[in-house]
Parts: sequence; structure tokens; C-alpha cells
Amino acid sequence: MNMIRIAKSFFGGIFGLLLTMQGISAGDFPLFPPIGPLPPVTFPADNPQTEAKVELGKKLYFDPRLSGNNWISCATCHNPVFGFTDGLPRALGGPASKEGGRHSPTVINAAYNEFQFWDGRAATLEEQALGPIQNPNEMCETLDNVVRKLSGIPDYVKAFQEVFGTGVTADGIAKAIAAFERTVIYANSPFDRYMQGDVRALSESAKRGMDLFQGKAECIKCHNGPNFTDNKFHNIGVPADGPLKEDLGRYNVTMNDTDKGAFKTPTLRNVAETGPYMHNGYFPTLFEVVQFYNGGGGRSENKSPDIHGLNLTGQEVGDLIEFMKALTGEMVRITYQSAPLAFPKVPVGF
Ligand code: HEC
Ligand code: HEC
Repeated sequence: MNMIRIAKSFFGGIFGLLLTMQGISAGDFPLFPPIGPLPPVTFPADNPQTEAKVELGKKLYFDPRLSGNNWISCATCHNPVFGFTDGLPRALGGPASKEGGRHSPTVINAAYNEFQFWDGRAATLEEQALGPIQNPNEMCETLDNVVRKLSGIPDYVKAFQEVFGTGVTADGIAKAIAAFERTVIYANSPFDRYMQGDVRALSESAKRGMDLFQGKAECIKCHNGPNFTDNKFHNIGVPADGPLKEDLGRYNVTMNDTDKGAFKTPTLRNVAETGPYMHNGYFPTLFEVVQFYNGGGGRSENKSPDIHGLNLTGQEVGDLIEFMKALTGEMVRITYQSAPLAFPKVPVGF
């Protein structure tokens, strides 16, 4: 028997047992990649990780001069203090701090995403990083202007020369920011410690929640694998909210009717810290999220067949929440020297 078959029969056995306990026939259930500790981060061949590059990326990440009005940095919306998000239902950005249509997802563990953004329109962190700079509702700046501004700051010019052997370039900005983001990894959560053999790391309630998650509540159908996501897109019927009357989600990328209203399954790691929840921040708390699933999700013509009423008791709802709270990893300490102080000698559009 090869390793995959051994793993399949092992997890299949556990899964079958769970399903029998919940009264569901195992034959109706396919197998899902098991939840468990995160593997090490991998780095793309064309952007190898170096300490100097991470340090440069960190400065850029916290530098508001990447924005048109020189006020908004990546950290404005992905703030370490709020679990690398902003604590708001939907992001405020652009020159007038206008509310956008979508919730700022966390940057924590984004290194593991197979797709970036709620609709997956970028694949890599490098590809993602230049988007918000140019988005009129976010940092509202042109890449030419950012390159010009940073090229007027001798410390940045020196750092780009050291890291990339070039002057300041948009490509270098993207690569350095992505390298920094790959260090924002929260691991070693109580769940991880439990899976590695520390049986006391989870409370009894969280352990019951873990069984429900993989059994009666069926969360594992989409939130699976070490990062608690299948890296796919589903419509679960989250009601419209905020300035957008309708958000077609993944459909905007693929133009497939079946993708209307489908959004990326988000990771559940650190989820206790990253509310409000869903692509539009519709739910303020995890309690409301679990009640939503329990009631069979929202209304939508295109809703996933895997979303239906769950008949969870009050205690079971609480147990699932306790389990999700146990997915909060250890914070990484972000210490950074402030960005170079010299202000560029080019006009900036206040
Ligand atoms: C004005 C607020 C705002 C600013 C500033 C901002 N972001 Fe975002 N970020 C968002 C929102 C909102 C989304 C989701 C947008 C979407 O899905 O369409 C997002 C998505 C992301 C994602 C994808 C994460 C995931 O799980 O899909 C990453 C990574 C990210 N931003 C990093 C950055 C970086 C790096 C910068 C600075 C160059 C930045 N952001 C600036 C609000 C912001
Ligand atoms: C059919 C796939 C599917 C199933 C089953 C599923 N989810 Fe989700 N989950 C998603 C998708 C997709 C989203 C994002 C939807 C959106 O924003 O419109 C999501 C969002 C969430 C969020 C919000 C996370 C955030 O950062 O905003 C939580 C919490 C969550 N799910 C928990 C659960 C729990 C608990 C269960 C089991 C009771 C479950 N999910 C079952 C696909 C699923």
C-alpha cells in the first residue's frame, strides 16, 4: 500500500466512524484533505527570500507614501493590531476614505493561499501587491508616481540596489512586499499543539467542536486541509450589504454563470481575530456565522448544494465556536524601523 492509500484508509476510517456516530452514511461522503498543522512556507523560484528583502518589504508595507495622498499604507487596512485586517465590515480607502464593497481579508498566512482576493483574481502575493496601490478606492496612486517618489529617497535607492541590483522598480516593490508577507505566519495554535500530541491543548468543548466540524456540521467539506480552505469558490448566500447592491464575486473573473455570487473559502486560522466576517463583513461575530450555517445559509439561486440546515443544538453551536477560537496561532512580533524619513522632492498630490 502506498502512503496516499494508507493515509486515505486511515482518515477514511476516522471519518467513517464520525459519520456513523452522527447517523450519516459514510458512502455519501467523499474524503477531504485532513486538517492539521501547516507545512513550511514555500518561496517562488523567481523571488527567493533574503533578510534584506524582507526588511525592505516591511518598510514598504508600512509606508503611506505608496498612496496618492501619502496617508494610506498597506497596514492601514491590514493592521497587525487587528489581526492584519482593519476591524471594519468593509475597507475605507481612496482620497475621501470612501467605503468599498469588500471586507479586508487578513494578511496572516496569506502565503498559503492558492488565490488572492475574495474572487481569486490574483494568484500570487507578487501579483496581488500592486493592485491596491493603483485601486482608486484603496491607495489611489500610479505605479510611475510611486517609483518616482521612492527614487527621491536615498535610503530606498540604496536598499533596492542592495536587494535587486537595480533602482526602484514596481516589480521590486511587489517582490519585496510579498517577501515580507511570507513572514507573517501564525502557527502553533492550541489546535496545532493538540494535533501534535498535547491532549490538554484543547478544552472539552473545543474537542466536541472539532468532531462536529468534521462530522454533523459538515464544515470540512469546504474548510479543509492544513489552512482550513479548499481554495475553491462557493456561493453560500451571504446577503448583500454595503455600497454594492450585488457582488457577483468569482463570476467577474470567469464569466461562468455557476460562479455568480461565489467567493473564495477563507482560511479559518486566526478567525476569532479577523471579524467582521464574509466578503462584505455582513456578520459581526462567529456566533452569527454559525447560526447562519445552522439555518441553512442564505437565499440565492446559485447556492451551493452543500449548504443546508444543520439542526445544531445551542451547545453544539458553542462547541464549534470554541473550536474555531482554538485556531488562533502565536502572534509574530513585527518590529520594524520606520521607513526612510527624507520626503521626496517631487510634487505629491494632496
Ligand atoms: C483601503 C484598504 C486597503 C489597503 C490600503 C490595502 N488593502 Fe489589501 N485588501 C483590501 C481589501 C478590501 C481586499 C479584498 C479585495 C477583494 O477581494 O476584492 C484586500 C486583499 C488583500 C490581499 C488578499 C488576501 C486574501 O486572503 O485574499 C492581500 C494579500 C492584501 N490585500 C495585501 C495588501 C498589500 C500588500 C497592500 C499594500 C500594497 C494592501 N493590501 C493595501 C483592503 C486594502
Ligand atoms: C460549501 C462550502 C462551505 C461550507 C460547507 C462551509 N463554509 Fe464557511 N465559508 C465558505 C465560503 C465560500 C465563505 C465565504 C463566503 C462569502 O464571503 O460570501 C465562508 C466563510 C466562513 C467564515 C467567515 C470567515 C471570514 O474570514 O470572513 C466562517 C467563520 C466560516 N465560513 C465557518 C464555517 C463553519 C463553522 C462551517 C460549518 C458549520 C462552514 N463554514 C461551512 C464555504 C463553506
